[in-house]
Amino acid sequence: MIDLPKVRRETPGVDHRIHLNNAGAALMPLPVYEAVTNYLERELQIGGYETSSEKVDELNAVYDSVATLIGSQRDEIAIAENATVAWQRAFYSLDFKEGDRILTTQSEYAANYIAYLQIAKRFGATIDVIPNDGQGALDPTALERMIDGKVRLIAITWIPTNGGLVNPAEEVGRIANAHGITYLLDACQAVGQMPIDVTRLGCDILTATGRKFLRGPRGTGFLYIKKELLARTEPIMLDLFSAQVTAPHAYTIRPDARRFETWETNYSTRAGLRAACDYALDIGLSAIESRCRHLTNLAREQLAEIRGVKLHDLGAHQSAIISFTISNHDSASIMKQLAGKAINVSVSNPSSTPLDADARHLPPIVRVSPHYYNTEEDIGALIAAVRTIAAA
Ligand SMILES: Cc1ncc(COP(=O)(O)O)c(C=O)c1O
Repeated sequence: MIDLPKVRRETPGVDHRIHLNNAGAALMPLPVYEAVTNYLERELQIGGYETSSEKVDELNAVYDSVATLIGSQRDEIAIAENATVAWQRAFYSLDFKEGDRILTTQSEYAANYIAYLQIAKRFGATIDVIPNDGQGALDPTALERMIDGKVRLIAITWIPTNGGLVNPAEEVGRIANAHGITYLLDACQAVGQMPIDVTRLGCDILTATGRKFLRGPRGTGFLYIKKELLARTEPIMLDLFSAQVTAPHAYTIRPDARRFETWETNYSTRAGLRAACDYALDIGLSAIESRCRHLTNLAREQLAEIRGVKLHDLGAHQSAIISFTISNHDSASIMKQLAGKAINVSVSNPSSTPLDADARHLPPIVRVSPHYYNTEEDIGALIAAVRTIAAA
């Protein structure tokens, strides 16, 4: 059981706002904020290099915390400034040649899809979208049928940015592993809202951000890359941290996943990312998942009953993201009206998920994403506010 009064005491933002934008950026808990500010305070007092050498053990512990969070080994983790950079560092380091196929999902995040298009243009690779099942999730049977000797990569978004869909990431892993195909999983919206185990998922690469359901500081993210793949993957870009000059015309690359990092980095936010992982682990990811599900179901059921509200979430299993529109009201104005009542939500634009938006003719949609620190009263206030907007 989550100690709700404690987590709310440790989340000062809840005193002023009903924050239902955790898929955007969650409210940081105090231990995360303090980890960042204490670190910066020390830099202020004694200097940047001096602080990083004084706190070297604490800084290195971020790798243990992330590894514990996702069930990997610490040397399979690289820290990045966001999920996109983590993803790009891995994706662009894979080698592609003409005729290679990349299999992806309809709900793929736009930044990833743009990268596939670029690689397709550069190397003559092709992109194939895995069909959905009857409920709108990626269909593993259809995926199995698409496999041939040309599939170079299966790269999917687990939980999309624009709704409650949860793609069957584990089933995809089983298929990718059975055929020896590299599997890249965008877990940006999953990390922090549910237990994650990369071994069960069977992914070779997993990327995520710190600021969303994990409640870390902005400007943080991480990359997991499985040891076997790591050993044969040279980062597309190297520096003097990821590699070392060993002879006038030779260099060697670091053995661990930090080969995807650079020498300079934002140290204080690393401290914050570590605190965010530890905070989530202390509460327990299973408890977080079930409370998220409880609050989300509550909101979804009540929203569905409001006249004029249309829910857009796909899939049989749904995450803590709810997407909806209200007839005759544009989503930006709904968000603004909710903000006027101190309720934070966001709007997901078609440009973030272009394939899905196109296939379903989606307009900008309102995105509501509760977290475990929200209350039933928060959901009640949202419902009352949406009811008023819909009735106007
Ligand atoms: C599914 C998904 N993937 C990737 C990203 C990119 O994350 P970041 O903004 O940390 O680069 C997002 C951000 O919204 C996302 O929702």
